[in-house]
Amino acid sequence: MSQKLAILDAGAQYGKVIDRRVRELKVESDILPLTTPTHELKKYRAFIISGGPESVYGEQAPKYNPEIFSLGKPILGICYGLQLMNYVHGGTVLKKNKREDGPCRITINADSPLFQNLAPTQDVLMTHGDSADQVATSFKVTGDSDGLVAAIENPKKKMYGVQFHPEVDLTLHGKDILSNFLFSIAGFKGDFTMADREQLAVEYIQKTVGEQQVLLLISGGVDSTVCAALLGKALKPQQLHLVHIDHGFMRKNESAEVKKALSTFGLHVKVIDASDTFFNATTIMNGSISEKLSEATNAEVKRHIIGNTFIEVAKKAIADLDLDPDTTFLAQGTLRPDLIESASDKASSNAQKIKTHHNDSPLVRELRDKGRVVEPLQEYHKDEVRILGKQLGLPDEIVWRQPFPGPGLAIRTLCATKPYLEKYDRTYKKLQAFTTDQIAVTLLPVQTVGVQGDGRTYSYAVGLSGQSEWSTLRELALEIPKTIHDVNRVVYIFGEKISSPVKEITPTTLSESVVDQLRAADSIVNQILLKYDLMRSLSQVPVILLPLHFGHEGARSIAIRTFITNDFMTGVPALPGKEMPLEAVNEMVTRILEEVPGIARVMYDLTSKPPGTTEWE
Ligand code: XMP
Repeated sequence: MSQKLAILDAGAQYGKVIDRRVRELKVESDILPLTTPTHELKKYRAFIISGGPESVYGEQAPKYNPEIFSLGKPILGICYGLQLMNYVHGGTVLKKNKREDGPCRITINADSPLFQNLAPTQDVLMTHGDSADQVATSFKVTGDSDGLVAAIENPKKKMYGVQFHPEVDLTLHGKDILSNFLFSIAGFKGDFTMADREQLAVEYIQKTVGEQQVLLLISGGVDSTVCAALLGKALKPQQLHLVHIDHGFMRKNESAEVKKALSTFGLHVKVIDASDTFFNATTIMNGSISEKLSEATNAEVKRHIIGNTFIEVAKKAIADLDLDPDTTFLAQGTLRPDLIESASDKASSNAQKIKTHHNDSPLVRELRDKGRVVEPLQEYHKDEVRILGKQLGLPDEIVWRQPFPGPGLAIRTLCATKPYLEKYDRTYKKLQAFTTDQIAVTLLPVQTVGVQGDGRTYSYAVGLSGQSEWSTLRELALEIPKTIHDVNRVVYIFGEKISSPVKEITPTTLSESVVDQLRAADSIVNQILLKYDLMRSLSQVPVILLPLHFGHEGARSIAIRTFITNDFMTGVPALPGKEMPLEAVNEMVTRILEEVPGIARVMYDLTSKPPGTTEWE
C-alpha cells in the first residue's frame, strides 16, 4: 500500500506550505492538478484537496476528476476542498464576492477523528470567502465559526473538510489536525524524510552562497559526490567549480568514474593530475625538511606531506580558475559524525588525527572563521547521505562506495626499508605458546597501528598459517594481542605453513610501480565484493600492500582487511563462512596470486578494533 499523499491543487496560495508541513510529518507528498487521471490517483494512499481562489459555481472553477471522491481513499478538503467535497455530494455553497482570510476562534466537535485530542475551541486562520451553506446529507458539521460551517465530515467515507488552514502557523494546532488526518485516519507510517531534507539543503546552499562562487574538492567518496550533486541542483552552473585532485593514490578508474557520474548531471569536474607533485613533495616536520613522499616510510610523515600538498594544489587550482580567494566559498561534504568528531577533538586524539587534513585543514579553518565554508550535509549521517544520493539519481557504484581515506592507497602501502625487529626473538618465542600441530604462529617484521587503552601504538603483526577452522583462527586472533602486548594485529596467511621466523622484507616506498601493485589487488577485491553483493554488509575493506616476500625475493604480500562497524570507533572483521562467503575469499586469494605480478602471499586480517585500527597505518 502506497505511503504517498497527493495534494490536489485548486490554485492554493498555501499549497507549498501544505506540502512542507506534510513532509515535516515525514509523509511523502506530490502536488498534482485536480484533473489528475484516475490511474495516477490510484498510486496514492490519500488526498488533500487544497484551497483556491475560485468558487465552485464560477466559470473559472477548476476542472476536477470526479473519481477523486469514489476511490474510497481518505480525503481532507481544505477551504475550496471542503466546498468541492460538499458540492459534489449534493450540498450547496454560500457565495460571496470577496474573500478575506483572517485569524478566528472556532468551536469544534472533539469527538471527530480529525480533532481528536484537541480542545473544543481553536484559534485558526479562517477563509472568509465562500463557505458551505447546506451541508450534504451524508456529511455532518464538526466545526462552527460564528454560525458558518468551519468543518464537515463523513467518517465512513473517510472524508473530512475544514474551512480554515491547518497548514499555517496561525492555526495553532494545525499540525495536530494534519497528524490526525495522516496517521489516525489515513494510516501513514510517517517514515519519509529525505525529500524534504533535500529541499532544505538546497535552500541552505542558496541562502548561504547567494551569487558568490563555490569551489568543491571532490575526493571520489560518497560524501563529496552527493554534495556536488546537491550543489548542482542549488546553484547556477557558472557559480560551481568542481575540482578533483588525483594525487596518484586513487583506486583503479576512480577519478574517471567520478567525472563520468557527475557529467550525467551536467556537472563538469576538472581533474587535476597532480601525482608528480605529490610523489615529489616534502614537508617540514619538527623544524626540518622531510624526505620526498616517494622515499618516506613513516605513516605520519606520509599523511603530513599529502595533507599539505593537497592545500598547495587546491590553492593553485583557485588561482588557475581565476577565483577570488577573498569571496569564493569552499564547499565540503562534511557529515554530522565528522562534526561531532571534530568537536570532540580533545576527547579523541585519534579522531582528530584522522580527520585533520581534509575536512579541517588550516585552509578550511581560516575560511570557516570568515564564514565562507558551506557544508550542506552537516545534518546527515552516512546512511542518509546514501539515500539522498540515490534520490538525487547517483548510480549505485557511487552511492554504495565504501569510505576511502583521503591519502588513499598511500597509507595502505606499508613502507619500510628495513625489517622491524625490535625484541623480535623474545616476542617470537613467547608466541610459540600458541602454536599447535595444525597452526604455526609467526611474528611478521612490520609495524602496524593499533589502539590500546587510549593511545595509538605502532607495533607487530602476527601471521597464522596451516590448516584450521576459521573460528579457531579468530579465537587465536582475540587471544594473542591480549597476552602479548607488542602485537597489534593477527592475520591468517593462505598457502603453506610458515614454520620459521620471518626476518627479511622487500624494501618498499611509494613508487608508481608499488602503488600499481596494490591498485591491481584492490581492484580485484572490489570486483568480488560487488559480485557477492558485500559492499553494504561490510563497512569497509581496506586492501594493504606489505613488504613481506616470504622467501620470494623482491615480492610483496597483500592483506585483506574486512571490517564491520557502525561508527568506525570499534568494529570486527567479517568471519569467512559467516559474514564473508568462503567462495568470495577463495576467489580473492586465487585471483590476486594469479593476476598481480610479484605477490608472494595473501593474508586475511582477523583483528577487531581494538586492538587493530581499521587501516594498517
Ligand atoms: P582507523 O584506521 O583509525 O580508521 O580505524 C577509521 C576510519 O578513518 C579512515 N581513515 C582516514 N580517513 N584520512 C581520511 O580521510 C586519513 O588519513 C585516514 N586514516 C583513516 C579509515 O579509512 C576508516 O574509515
